Amino acid sequence: MNNITPMMKQYLSIKQEYMDCILFYRLGDFYEMFYEDAKKASKVLGIALTARQSGTSEKAPMCGIPYHAVGSYLPKLLHNGYKVAVCEQIGDPKTSKGPVERQVVRVITPGTILDENYLSADQNNYIVSIYSKQDNYGLAFCDLSTGIFKVALIKGEDSLIDEIAKLNPIECLTPDSFEKKTLLKKITARTNIYTLANSNYNYERLLNVLKDKFSANHIFSIGLHNNRVSLLAAGALYKYIQTNLKTEIDHINQMEVYSPDAYMVLDYATRRNLELTANINGNKENTLLSIIDNTITAGGARVLRQWIEQPLKNIDEIVSRHDLVEYFIQRSVVREELRNYLRDFYDMERLITKIMYGNADAKDLLALKTSLALVPNIKALFAEETFSPLRKIIDILDPLIYLVDLLDKSIINDPPSGLKDGNIIKKGYHEEVDKLREAKRSGKAWIANLEMEEKERIGVKSLKVGFNKVFGYYIEVTNANLNAVPEYYIRKQTLANCERYITPKLKELENLILDAEEKLFELEYRLFHAVRQDVTTYVQQIKSNAKLVATLDVFSGLSVTAEQNNYIRPKIGPSTKLRIIKGRHPVVERSMGHLFIPNDIDMHNTTNDLMVITGPNMAGKSTYLRQNAILVLMAQMGSFIPADEAEIGIVDRIFTRIGSSDNLAQGQSTFMVEMQEVANIVKYATKNSLVILDEVGRGTSTYDGVSLAWAISEHIYTNIKAKTLFATHYHELTKLQEEHKGIKNYNVGVVEKGDEITFLHEVREGSTDRSYGIQVARLAGLPKEILERARYILQRLEQDSNFLATASGTIQHEEMEVKKFNVKLSVIEEEIERLDVWNMTPINALNILADLQNEIRLKRGAK
Ligand SMILES: Nc1ncnc2c1ncn2[C@@H]1O[C@H](COP(=O)(O)OP(=O)(O)O)[C@@H](O)[C@H]1O
Ligand SMILES: [Mg+2]
Repeated sequence: MNNITPMMKQYLSIKQEYMDCILFYRLGDFYEMFYEDAKKASKVLGIALTARQSGTSEKAPMCGIPYHAVGSYLPKLLHNGYKVAVCEQIGDPKTSKGPVERQVVRVITPGTILDENYLSADQNNYIVSIYSKQDNYGLAFCDLSTGIFKVALIKGEDSLIDEIAKLNPIECLTPDSFEKKTLLKKITARTNIYTLANSNYNYERLLNVLKDKFSANHIFSIGLHNNRVSLLAAGALYKYIQTNLKTEIDHINQMEVYSPDAYMVLDYATRRNLELTANINGNKENTLLSIIDNTITAGGARVLRQWIEQPLKNIDEIVSRHDLVEYFIQRSVVREELRNYLRDFYDMERLITKIMYGNADAKDLLALKTSLALVPNIKALFAEETFSPLRKIIDILDPLIYLVDLLDKSIINDPPSGLKDGNIIKKGYHEEVDKLREAKRSGKAWIANLEMEEKERIGVKSLKVGFNKVFGYYIEVTNANLNAVPEYYIRKQTLANCERYITPKLKELENLILDAEEKLFELEYRLFHAVRQDVTTYVQQIKSNAKLVATLDVFSGLSVTAEQNNYIRPKIGPSTKLRIIKGRHPVVERSMGHLFIPNDIDMHNTTNDLMVITGPNMAGKSTYLRQNAILVLMAQMGSFIPADEAEIGIVDRIFTRIGSSDNLAQGQSTFMVEMQEVANIVKYATKNSLVILDEVGRGTSTYDGVSLAWAISEHIYTNIKAKTLFATHYHELTKLQEEHKGIKNYNVGVVEKGDEITFLHEVREGSTDRSYGIQVARLAGLPKEILERARYILQRLEQDSNFLATASGTIQHEEMEVKKFNVKLSVIEEEIERLDVWNMTPINALNILADLQNEIRLKRGAK
């Protein structure tokens, strides 16, 4: 150990403080990783693992990435759950004895990264922090990229899960002792869970952290000092971010109290079942969001997502949202003008974060200017408008004229990406900049002049003056003309076919130029910083503008959606009513167009609290159930809905339980999960809730299933009185109607014609006593022999329900009517039999005929 190299010694001492991170150790143009870090990273990044002399008998495993390519490697490490500590050279290599001084300048985690290449524009990037005491959970969450910081008190584990599922955080922070980590991991697949030692959760210390940050007054006024678990969660979160970023976080300047009570509750299972923002495969296709998202800006997309994730419960707020959607429907010309402006907006929320954080370059300031410069246009567009919900938005929009003017005067129109090579500050903004630029320009003219003079003086036409970073300016003469080189040329460099020289005059000019350039670049850099600093004083206004523009985007986008898809404005009231005329499922409708059959619902006019819906498989029961849940949700988030007419009483919670067999794709087929979810419903549903039960009870034997389904329905009906839609295979449940006034039977109609059935997809009153299982199986292409056999057994069963038991497993085949069907058909005959001749175009028929002929010929050829 004694022989260990000084550099390795330094590495190890730094690494010791960042054992939970992969340490990027800056070495020249590379970030190097050693030992275990190197082994892990080389695997994840697919880069070569080498080794370096460490001074001990064993070489240190090592791998590295070029510092400028960090942007493409870092996300991979984060995605794999690693944190990265970035260690830079701080000291000056020229003056330091031994290894240059190095320091970790920041720790990067999935929730603290600010690189827009890593963040998805239409989604918040939340870190949540949880602290619990018994059944009270303090929850704090922050999106560093947009400056949101909120804190809440949550009662009960189930509500905690609901909130976490809603936020879908990228990172969860908990004390070491927190016991529900596996639970967290289960509900948010993308989350990385990091823990802090319990000693970090010290009330006094964290209270002070938050007081310093958000002012003592604020902490007291929101009552946080009395709410220990929330304070600890928030304090730990802020401290964690601060520690990782190693700086104050100026763009977070507000801590809001978040109250889950203001929003409709959607548990984790319901979000998943309704496919709101992600489908069962986890992507955005065929989700409600994908159908209704007509936003244009990144901020708008994020707000729309938040609205879907948390529908409102307050009638006035909902009505006011509908007002604005309606406004934009009625004024589509103005709306399109507005949307044209929106197209030119950059992501102001994330821009201001970059600016506050000192990451913004000239291009970013220009993007901010472009965006802000659109604000007056939007204000002008609505100058005459008196409609008050809109007036409120337009009036608060702040054109920030002084700031736009400053940016316009100071920043060049097409700046480069870096900040060190000048070309940032506009002409006329600063006298000294103009002067230095002039000096630089004239210097270049002088050089050109010198080149001409020298050409003439020594009579070599091919002589030229060039520049490179190592030697500066030089005169180049080709080998053929070397005899013309005068004595005062000083040779600097020999190349294969030429020599390069300098002269005292050339050196003098060079100094003038480089001097001017160095001063210029430095001055431009300083001026840029000053401008950027100026921008930070407007952070509040810029953030508020960003929010307002995003809101305008959402409203105008929702009105476009409503118009394009024929949505109507639902009436919202305090009743427990749910009445929808000709409602449609927004997602299924999209893929079917006019073939989609609309359906009504009319609940809670005292005779209809619980709908028992029967009908064969594929009739459309599940679609109908989900459709009604989604329409309620859409209405309460502020959107119009696909229907002809609707009256919706505020729903406090939507529950969905989708029977296990319908849910296999998610690998959650156990009856246990199903019953847990039902238990959840029974525990939390109120008379204002909407409960969707789809084939509950299926996961167990028929008798168990029917009994449970019966008892559950009765309990919900008598004790909870929540609006409930129960789709079931158990025809026995249709008897519930006879015993309870508010339970009513419905069925999804089919028409039977001989052996065939046609689905009407129409929900109507009354029950069915048939499942049409055999007909559905036939549609699915089950072989005729099996179908006929099943039909036979069914007939016998209908006559005698003990038939199977008494037949002792051997049913007489001879009895079967099957015989007359039992003709062996060739494959081709079967194909012909299946053809739907009357629905075929002549050209189709010909094609099929040709195919069949081909098949026959092939067969003959084969024989
Ligand atoms: N209202 C409707 N109009 C047209 N087609 C529908 C309708 N409802 C359902 N469908 C079609 O029927 C299929 C089966 O619907 P689903 O709701 O899963 O039936 P169930 O739950 O009764 O088995 C859906 O995939 C869809 O294509
Ligand atoms: Mg179904």
